[in-house]
Amino acid sequence: MKMKVLKQAGLPAPLMDALQARYEVVEYNTLPERDFRSMADEFQLLLTNGEAVVTGELIASLPNLALIAVFGVGYDGVDVQAAKAHQVMVTHTPDVLTEDVADLAIGLMLATCRQIPGAQAFIQQGKWMQESYPWTKKVSGAALGIVGLGRIGLAVAKRAQAFDMTISYCNRSPVKEVAHRYQPDLVALAKECDFLLVCAPGIADNRHLINREVMDALGSEGILINVGRGSLVDEQALIMALDAGTLGGAGLDVFSDEPEVPPALYDRPNVVLTPHMASATWTTRQAMSQLVLDNVEAFFNGEPLLTPVPECN
Ligand code: DGY
Repeated sequence: MKMKVLKQAGLPAPLMDALQARYEVVEYNTLPERDFRSMADEFQLLLTNGEAVVTGELIASLPNLALIAVFGVGYDGVDVQAAKAHQVMVTHTPDVLTEDVADLAIGLMLATCRQIPGAQAFIQQGKWMQESYPWTKKVSGAALGIVGLGRIGLAVAKRAQAFDMTISYCNRSPVKEVAHRYQPDLVALAKECDFLLVCAPGIADNRHLINREVMDALGSEGILINVGRGSLVDEQALIMALDAGTLGGAGLDVFSDEPEVPPALYDRPNVVLTPHMASATWTTRQAMSQLVLDNVEAFFNGEPLLTPVPECN
């Protein structure tokens, strides 16, 4: 008989196939409460993804839970303190997705600043027959401010250097052995840069880090790029700034209430939207899937976990 494991959020089909070949994967979200209660003590493993919420209450209701395996680098939805309090380890999938997220961040910078989707719409609407597309702003040589200089921020900085950008960053503390300029004041960073790239973790302390004051400082020529989490940006303030023209534009892969995206963000030439797809390439999603499997196997074989989250290290 296969061992039961609990799955609480969407996972890619190839990962599900591999898991189902080894385990009986039980869907938490469709499991009747009575069935859940009767089998709760059978689960040692909870599988989830980077966007899902794993509450302390759920963790406490699984008496033999020992591992939460997150498909994603972000694990802000998991109550890690509750997990630790119940001696539950948490793993995630760092590193393997860094390059893809950095690639998409650069793509959003180019697409937003040069208005690539707006220019395509202009052709499709037959407007080129009457006029030329309005001039846009230059990307090469611009000033980039990075909010959260972790793995992804560093990978974006590496790419931005090829565009001769000047790079500054805001973090809780300076990052060792990094030549980019440290600016501890987020509003000052926003004032100094043309692009503000947000890739900080979506922890509760960072909620609405990018608020009206930061957007005002970025200004009517400045462009906000978010590949972190929707919760990092005050979306209502963003819409107001775009309406008022006090912010130059925004390239967004993440949103406050995904997959709901406020229609007020649609159909603006200076706004580019993508559906939280920064790490969604075949190569990377396969690598993320393999890392989840490797962590799960290491756990059931009693071996060290490959990528525990820093709090569990
Ligand atoms: C991540 O890995 O955290 C991505 O945002 C997908 O959830």
